[in-house]
Amino acid sequence: MWTALGSLLRPQPAPSPAPRAEQPTPSWRVGFEDLAREHGFEPLRVEGSLPHELEGTLYRNGPGRFGVGGERYRHWFDGDGAVTAVRVGHGRAFGATKMVQTPAYLEERRAGRRLYGGYDTPLARPFYEVVLGQVKNAGNTSIMLWDDRVFALCESGRPIELADNDLTTLGENDLGVVRRAFAAHPHRVPSRRALYGFGLGVGPRTSVEVYELPDDRAPRTIARFSLDGLRLNHDFAVTERHAVFLFSPTYLSISDMLLFRRGPVSSARWRPERGVEVVLVGLDAPHEVVRFHVDAFHMEHVVNAFERDGEIVIDQVDYPDPWGLERFVSGLVRGVVQAPLASRLRRVVIDPNRRTLRAELLADRPLELPRVSPRVESRPHRFAYLAGASGEFIDAVLAFDLETGAVDRFAPGADQYPSEAVFVPRDGGGEENDGWLLTMVLDARQRESHLAVLDARRVGAGPIARLWFDHAIPFGFHGAWAGGR
Ligand SMILES: [Fe+2]
Repeated sequence: MWTALGSLLRPQPAPSPAPRAEQPTPSWRVGFEDLAREHGFEPLRVEGSLPHELEGTLYRNGPGRFGVGGERYRHWFDGDGAVTAVRVGHGRAFGATKMVQTPAYLEERRAGRRLYGGYDTPLARPFYEVVLGQVKNAGNTSIMLWDDRVFALCESGRPIELADNDLTTLGENDLGVVRRAFAAHPHRVPSRRALYGFGLGVGPRTSVEVYELPDDRAPRTIARFSLDGLRLNHDFAVTERHAVFLFSPTYLSISDMLLFRRGPVSSARWRPERGVEVVLVGLDAPHEVVRFHVDAFHMEHVVNAFERDGEIVIDQVDYPDPWGLERFVSGLVRGVVQAPLASRLRRVVIDPNRRTLRAELLADRPLELPRVSPRVESRPHRFAYLAGASGEFIDAVLAFDLETGAVDRFAPGADQYPSEAVFVPRDGGGEENDGWLLTMVLDARQRESHLAVLDARRVGAGPIARLWFDHAIPFGFHGAWAGGR
């Protein structure tokens, strides 16, 4: 009864329609099958012409296994992480892919059954997971490169270090400062020669730690504050002067998780009357934290952020419907799209003195997984690169010229699904968009994946090279490029 009452009191993602027998199986479903083969670096088949100047390694992360002991996880975000790497140089390419062997992953494999819940997989041991905070680190979301080391990130746990020569998991690492968790979206500020990240600690109030990872010094915690209630937050913005949080009014219910074993997202309530809490942390004076509330929205990913005339400008992917992302992703592991991706690209401008936020719509079309050139991170940018979905699933890469409004688009065709496009600047290149976009494409018909190399100034012309694995790689989230290695 309480379950039924609870669901009346909060907005819920639409119920999953059962797929009708006569409906053809969508080909993108191949991207939600377990990784068929793990391997170290082996030669990839090169189709087209791989630029000789392109030298380095692309690392990508995403769910690679979707269940344990015959039980399938309930949500894409709960899949166990698999890291894939493509190493290129002198016109040749090598690829590797391996599961991220987190402590929880190994524990569940040894037990032969599920021992944890997840984002929307029912909790297995609610007291341990909710009260003691012993949650699963799925290691499945993104890659961080720091101190010439490679880490798989997932916001529910600490960074997991991987060996760069063969992707062997070396283990969880607290970097000397991480208390409980480190979120999946650290941002680099080139002028400060440092990465900035944050982590959330769960409890009746949510604690937020802000971390600085300098290039040549030990990491440190620069700020610590708390939020009312139990909260989730995926990304934040960093300029040359501020770390900026836009906490949406999504509150998790501890009682729902404890009593009904619900995963966090199923316990979530949207409280728009509380608005978005803007928190500004000065990077030079991190003890001076400015906090205020603005009208509610749900920001998922930051494209980039910078400061201009005393204001903070953030380009972001957000959702008019706070459950918009969840409606799109929640049925994917069952082969169902409950609702199309309904995101938008917006520019928000924050005036720290007046404590205001105003927003401008940049693109009203389904977009996700934004990137910019690493050379403009934390500084003004002109170009943004995003994945787009004109059909059921992500099927294109788009390059936005935010100065002219022009959009250049590459769609690989039927049954081919690209992913986040990572920008790699050309050595010595002067223009912001002089470089390549690297996007992993799943060819669902052939059941093989390839890395497509696009000229970022001629995206619509299609790949100049395709680097083929001999197997499919499940859809991933985020990646990072390590130049010269
Ligand atoms: Fe993300």
